[in-house]
Formats: sequence, structure tokens, C-alpha cells
Amino acid sequence: MYAAFCSIGAYVPEKILTNSDLETMVDTSDEWIYKRTGIKERHIAADNETTSDMGVNACRIAIERAGLSHNDIDMIICATISPDYFCMPSTAAIIADKLGLQKVTAFDISAACTGFVYALSIAKAFIESGMKKNILIVGAEKLSAITDYTDRGTCILFGDGAGAAIISATDNKEHAIIDIHTGSDGSYADLLMSPNGGSGSIHDTLEHTACFMQMKGNETFKVAVRTLTNDVVSILADNSIEASTVKHFVPHQANYRIIKAVGDALNLDEAQVVLTVEKYGNTSGASIPMAINDIYESRRLQQGDLMLLDAFGGGLTWGSALVPFAGKGK
Ligand code: UT7
Repeated sequence: MYAAFCSIGAYVPEKILTNSDLETMVDTSDEWIYKRTGIKERHIAADNETTSDMGVNACRIAIERAGLSHNDIDMIICATISPDYFCMPSTAAIIADKLGLQKVTAFDISAACTGFVYALSIAKAFIESGMKKNILIVGAEKLSAITDYTDRGTCILFGDGAGAAIISATDNKEHAIIDIHTGSDGSYADLLMSPNGGSGSIHDTLEHTACFMQMKGNETFKVAVRTLTNDVVSILADNSIEASTVKHFVPHQANYRIIKAVGDALNLDEAQVVLTVEKYGNTSGASIPMAINDIYESRRLQQGDLMLLDAFGGGLTWGSALVPFAGKGK
């Protein structure tokens, strides 16, 4: 059996936080944010809207587009760093319940912005081993809940949203996910972290600010460019695939300058590079499926198109994947 990427769905909350809005909150400017990051605006979940609420909306669309019923799903993996509850239950279990699935295998994974690629690799392994047939993977983030809106170094970057995909078993080799690379280096843990709220915390874990993200932005930027580039170069070489045959390069949407540097290193045309950072900002584990959904919605994604996914995030973690789209285009 092979694992096929059969459908995509996404959900974007209604409220928009623009760069001009941020100008009234911290010492920054629309010009600085756009020039340094490529971000114009990001979406923010409503106060009573949870990560699982957003995730479930994306999942429903992905299930419907795959032509499956909810009961066909035998596993749900949720990639998130902003779960509904920090210790338990998992956001995946809550999503399963909201979908009406009480017996499905459901768990979260923690790989920050690389979470969706990690989830994809787990789904691929479960399907290739014959243990599962239809796996729902979802990247869902309410990063606004863990963002310090007094820290201009981070609050300008992050947004909320969710994206989901169905990974199914197939005997059609042309639809098979070709390869996935994943890795991590915990010696860089302090570059991007939520330092409080866990067993390593030195602060009162009940503080409201316990889980706020902190980032050494400039150092992270440099490691990101190097790691993302090395990773895509190596997955293409390992599979003897030329960058020119990639239809859609779908990188994690952290910063336009990072994406541009990696795209240039691969000599990619602008048309190959999927960009959503301008309107969504950085949505961590949700960023890649939201970007794939964008090309689906705009009818640029067709069956058989080769996607190259590339992600990088806290941990540090990284991952890349060569994935033909096995679903039907819109
Ligand atoms: O998703 C996971 C991975 N995340 C990333 O890969 C993000 C990587 N990092 C970045 O995207 C960029 O490093 C940032 C956008 C966060 C920052 O851009 P930068 O070009 O690396 O700026 P910097 O941190 O080197 O700061 C340059 C200057 C500093 O002022 P001085 O020291 O030169 O006077 C900062 O204080 O810009 C200042 N600055 C700001 N100014 C206006 C930092 N943040 C802001 C701001 N508005 N929001």
C-alpha cells in the first residue's frame, strides 16, 4: 500500500489584525513589518473560538472533498503548539468528538511549525504498514492565545487558522507520497520557545503569561534559511528530482525573505512558490495546509501536481516532503 494526499481544507477566522492595528499596540510601522517580513495582515480567532473549533472546520471540508464519510476516518493527528488545553486532553481527541467520532485513534504532536510535515510522515508510515486506511491530519493554531502583544519582536508575526488533509491508502503508485525528511536539533531550543508553563519552568505556571512565545528572531532567521535550503536540496537529490519539475513549492510561511532566499537557492520561478504570508502571517503548524488550500481554492492545484513542502520551527525542527496531489482539482 502507498499513502496518497487526497484532499485539503482550511479555515480562516473572520477578524483581521492589520499592520496599522499593530502600530497602535507596539512601537512598529506597517513599512517595517512589510519590508522585513512580507506580512500585511493576519487573522485572529474570536475570544470564544478554540483551536479545535478552527481545526474541525478545516477537517469537515477536507473529509467532504475526499468523498469520505466521517466514519471512514480511522486516525486523527493534530499538529499544534496552541492546543485547547496544554496538558490534556489532546486537541485531536476534542476534534474527533466534535466530528462525532468516539472510537478513532487521536493524538497531538508537538513539532511547532514543522508539525504538519511530521504529522504527514506519521500518517504515511501508518498507512504503508497497513495499520490505518484514512488518516485526517490537521494543523490548527490559535497563536494569538500564546502571543505577547507587548513584544514587537514576535507579535507582528503570528496569526490564527487551521488546515487539514486526508491521507489515504492507495495501490496507485503515481499517487504515492514520494518521500519525507524530518529532523531536529534541540541544542537550538532557546531560539524559539515558550519558556514557562512546563516542568522546566522557573516561573509560576499559573501566570496568564506562562505560555507566551519568545524568539531570538535574527538568529532563528539565519538558521531557518540554512536549514530549509539544505533540507530541500537533499530531498530532491535523494529522489533524483529536478527543482524545475516541482509544480508548487509550499514552504512554511514565516517570512517572505526566508522563502525568497530558499526559492532563489533552488532557482525556482515565482510561479512555483506558494505565498500566503502577506495575508495570514505565520500560523505555525497550520501554515502549510492553509497555503495548499489557497492554491486549491484558486484552481492552481490539479491532480498529479508535484508539491514540495518545506518547514522549519521551534525545537528546532525541520522537515520536507515530495507529495503529488492525489485529489481532484477544484
Ligand atoms: O516560524 C518559525 C520560524 N520563525 C522564523 O523563522 C522567523 C525568523 N525571524 C524573522 O523573521 C526576523 O528575524 C524578524 C522579522 C523577527 C526580525 O527581522 P530582522 O531583520 O531579523 O530584525 P532584527 O531582529 O535584526 O532587528 C533589527 C532592528 C532592531 O533595531 P536596532 O537594534 O537595529 O535599532 C530591532 O529592535 O529592528 C528592530 N525591530 C523592530 N522595529 C520595528 C524589531 N522588531 C521590530 C518591529 N518594528 N516589529
